[in-house]
Amino acid sequence: MTLTAPPRPSSDTHPALSPAAEAVVRATAGVVAEHSETISARFYESMLGERPELWRLFNRANQETGEQSRALAASVVGYAVQLIDPDAPSFEPVLRRIAGKHITLGITPEQYTLVGRHLLGAVADILGAAVTPAVAAAWDEVYWLFATQLIATEARLYAAADIDPHNPLRPYRVMRRTQESPGTVSLVLEPADGAPLPALAAGQYVTVFVDLADGTRQPRQYSVSSIASDTRLQITVAQVRNGPPGQVSTHLQEAVDVGDILEVSGPAGDFGVPTGEGPLLIATAGAGITTVLPLVEHLARTQPGRKLILAHADRSRADHALRQAIATAAEALDDVVDHAWYETVDADDSTSFTGLMNFDRIAFTADTHVLSCGPLPFLRAVRLAALQRGVPPERTSYEVFGPDLWSPVTVTE
Ligand SMILES: Cc1cc2nc3c(=O)[nH]c(=O)nc-3n(C[C@H](O)[C@H](O)[C@H](O)COP(=O)(O)OP(=O)(O)OC[C@H]3O[C@@H](n4cnc5c(N)ncnc54)[C@H](O)[C@@H]3O)c2cc1C
Ligand code: HEM
Repeated sequence: MTLTAPPRPSSDTHPALSPAAEAVVRATAGVVAEHSETISARFYESMLGERPELWRLFNRANQETGEQSRALAASVVGYAVQLIDPDAPSFEPVLRRIAGKHITLGITPEQYTLVGRHLLGAVADILGAAVTPAVAAAWDEVYWLFATQLIATEARLYAAADIDPHNPLRPYRVMRRTQESPGTVSLVLEPADGAPLPALAAGQYVTVFVDLADGTRQPRQYSVSSIASDTRLQITVAQVRNGPPGQVSTHLQEAVDVGDILEVSGPAGDFGVPTGEGPLLIATAGAGITTVLPLVEHLARTQPGRKLILAHADRSRADHALRQAIATAAEALDDVVDHAWYETVDADDSTSFTGLMNFDRIAFTADTHVLSCGPLPFLRAVRLAALQRGVPPERTSYEVFGPDLWSPVTVTE
């Protein structure tokens, strides 16, 4: 059986502000943008203070570091800008990214009323007297246009995947554990409710919810790292060890064993093999390697003749997870080149390069579609290299392993 992706509905409506609200948003977008992160931080404080049970949906580290706050602020400002600027780039990818994440968390339309009340309350708190009734009404309109588009996109995604938003998780049994590298483990998961695996596309991720030893419950996203099986999916988790140990990655690494049950969402995400025949470059760093194997497996099944360049950067060959599995899957492809860069290259390794990924060594042409996954500075470097090589921005795509702090910002730049 071939796994087929569900149709990916688009949020193809083009909402518009009322003329009165548009004039106010034009006049106030700058001041809202300037204070957007403070507003957003106040919003979370106020909402999670009133509804502490929502902590089980929100990534605590993203709250601690302020990343989620910045992502929310950037998305609202980006949304407002594209409402008033006809030349702004399409907001569609940002909208779909948020909606995808929301549907893996079981976000429901009713919750938008709560979020709207706290967000608009935070605008009033932070901007004080500047928030006249007209300003409040205009930003209320922005919020509800955004919310309506998200609710509609999410409703269609839930329906397409046959997911009940009030019950979005399924139990999966851990069937196999493979230690891929010192800090990286693959878990092979099989639905434990007797129903088949959901349709999923190469490159998509799932959200895994875990109950931690301290009694808290936390969700995290993991890319499906292999689609080779029709009945099981695999995730590959890199333990986060820079700074305070990562809560969920450490739990999955140290406390989850074969036979255990994990609660897992349906798949989401738009990262994947672009349609067409053109050559592909998949550039990854560190944990970003987890996205590569399903893309190679997909190509092996559907387009073995399509030209592919793989480029990966890691600390060392020992840290380069899934290397052998990717090489084996790539044997089915007719035209594949594989490059690796390591901080430290083993003495017996004559093919890998030392140091950061050097794009001058990668022979890709302007007709290549460039996919990347890794930390934000790496993604920026890949995009810059692609643009310098003549690849148009629309032929670059990326997956970021945290709140997307890039697209909304690009929109407002
Ligand atoms: C779409 C998507 C796909 C993903 N796919 C994968 C994948 O395939 N494989 C994978 O391994 N990961 C993947 N991730 C990342 C994954 O979801 C988790 O973010 C990762 O496992 C870390 O989670 P954690 O709970 O272990 O760490 P967390 O506890 O969330 O900590 C994350 C970071 O925040 C730091 N931190 C926490 N608290 C503080 C504080 N108070 N001050 C300063 N710093 C702090 C921690 O030190 C750590 O560096 C993906 C993420 C997304 C969004
Ligand atoms: C118009 C309203 C909303 C906007 C603009 C918005 C925006 C965002 C953004 C930008 C992200 C980060 C996406 C990414 O990872 O790149 C996000 C994630 C999230 N949203 Fe929303 N959202 C809205 C409504 C809601 C509602 C109603 C809820 C329900 C409580 C909610 C809960 C969450 C959660 C739990 C996450 C994941 C947070 C994390 O992983 O740190 N959102 N949202």
